[in-house]
Amino acid sequence: MTWAIGEFSQEEDRYAEVLRRQWGSDTLRQIYRDAYGTDYPEEADPFGFVTRTDLARIAELAGPVRGRRLADLGCGRGGPGLEVARALGTSLAGVDVVEAAVTEARTRAAAADVADTRFTVGSFEATGLETRSCAAVMSVDALWMVWDKPAAFAEVTRILEPGGRFVFTTWEPAYLDHRSLLSDAGFEVLVHEETPAWLRRQLAVYRGILGHRRELADEMGQTAAATLIAEARETRSVLATTPRVLVAARKSG
Ligand SMILES: C[S@@+](CC[C@H](N)C(=O)[O-])C[C@H]1O[C@@H](n2cnc3c(N)ncnc32)[C@H](O)[C@@H]1O
Repeated sequence: MTWAIGEFSQEEDRYAEVLRRQWGSDTLRQIYRDAYGTDYPEEADPFGFVTRTDLARIAELAGPVRGRRLADLGCGRGGPGLEVARALGTSLAGVDVVEAAVTEARTRAAAADVADTRFTVGSFEATGLETRSCAAVMSVDALWMVWDKPAAFAEVTRILEPGGRFVFTTWEPAYLDHRSLLSDAGFEVLVHEETPAWLRRQLAVYRGILGHRRELADEMGQTAAATLIAEARETRSVLATTPRVLVAARKSG
């Protein structure tokens, strides 16, 4: 287990073994290709449900930030953040609780066309980034795992420059109102929208995982495969009432 700056729940690093073993599995890659078609951003090597369309929308909503710093919180192995930073012409600071993911992100960054990159172990609630050091903050499919969302939003407020944008994708159960949490943390919400065709794609990935349990265990190991299989089993029933949303907000002041 990886303990980072500050505290985070043990549960928040439950994908550590999947992050380590994901692309040892050609079967998993093919499941994603089949579910996404041409919207699969394979070059970004994502671990989640981000599409090319989502990445372009995140870049569009991050604002005019060329030459400044973008942060990617819950960056995983770094690919989505590097794609957006390259498109926007920013430097990139990526943060994740899983050390193995951060190590891979550093390797990926060395080969990417992004001027200045820094990947560190840290959490949404305690990023280790300097106050007002980021022109924009992004996060892809990570916030749903964070237990203390008010603390996470307060940390994003701290690291953003005044007027800076926070753009993220996550899942939104009925009991969780991201808009009021953002407003409490000093943000003005600019966009709150469901991401296109997310449910069809996510269900197709889960069907693929459940239909290839044996191959996944052979290729990724039992622990990583069991984590994916449990998610596919447990999450399907709640998806219909838990939309995947893309949110953009501006720090006031
Ligand atoms: C579904 S993955 C998405 C990774 C990456 N954004 C992508 O799209 O490829 C969620 C990530 O959030 C990270 N995570 C979970 N809780 C976190 C926290 N409190 N702070 C920072 N990262 C966290 C996990 O380690 C994991 O890498």
